[in-house]
Amino acid sequence: MTLSHKEPYTAERQCECGAPFQTWVWTRPNDTEFDASQCCPECQRKRQEEETRERRLEELEKTKLAQREKWQEQVGITGILCGKTFDNFDSTLQQTAYDAVKGWTGTSMVLLSPGVYGIGKTHLACALANHLITTKETAYIRSTGSIVRPVCPCTFITERQLLSRIRQTYNHTEFEDQETEQQIYRALAKSPLLIIDDVGKVRPRDYSFLQGVYFDIVDERWVNEQQIILTTNLSLKELEEHIGGASADRLREMCSKAGFIVMKGQSHRRI
Ligand SMILES: Nc1ncnc2c1ncn2[C@@H]1O[C@H](COP(=O)(O)OP(=O)(O)O)[C@@H](O)[C@H]1O
Ligand SMILES: [Mg+2]
Ligand SMILES: [Zn+2]
Repeated sequence: MTLSHKEPYTAERQCECGAPFQTWVWTRPNDTEFDASQCCPECQRKRQEEETRERRLEELEKTKLAQREKWQEQVGITGILCGKTFDNFDSTLQQTAYDAVKGWTGTSMVLLSPGVYGIGKTHLACALANHLITTKETAYIRSTGSIVRPVCPCTFITERQLLSRIRQTYNHTEFEDQETEQQIYRALAKSPLLIIDDVGKVRPRDYSFLQGVYFDIVDERWVNEQQIILTTNLSLKELEEHIGGASADRLREMCSKAGFIVMKGQSHRRI
């Protein structure tokens, strides 16, 4: 039997902030008393707000890390290309291209090195993509308090990968979760910057298919004012024949003259 269990009563206390406040005082079975509130309602509210803010910041930090990892997968760069940066590129060998790509101001570009391989086009394209996915803010808190997760700022894909991914959608299988051609275009269209590497590496059997793919992609980006970067060993004329006149027209408009960068010199692989 706990005789000491008395009814709670209210008492006035002084908060740390100096304000008086009322609290319920309870009595424990061993007859010691304790206050239900330790501070005034205003301080209580502030403490709760602070806790909520801290919890949200913790969640933001976790989200940022998770997003960074997700971006690293989504960007489409794998293997040794993950290590290509502006820092490990010898800028003196390709000063113009280096300056243009490193100082990228959100315009479309074409890196051309007609007939020359190993001159650093893929390296520079990956350096830009790697820079974007490691430096752009991966998450932030909106004024309403919710956490915003921006889409991966860049997609890197080779022409060969792009075409085979689209061709795969034509192989009808019983798997319903198989990607459709429209889903590929939609996913690419969402990417703020699309880099297609090695344009013209494969001579296509079917130009109308290839040029249709390019037109869908380039036209969509032109309409939505989103950027595209192409790298190629073709000459400008060959590039236009490869992607088709309609896409080439759009591309010229998107890149302006300064966006077509011809890289000359020796293959780095032979230096
Ligand atoms: N200026 C450079 N500084 C450092 N490494 C370079 C440079 N140019 C090319 N490379 C390296 O040489 C190899 C071939 O370059 P890559 O970018 O694949 O050439 P491309 O795409 O023009 O054919 C890669 O390993 C790349 O990192
Ligand atoms: Mg290359
Ligand atoms: Zn107080």
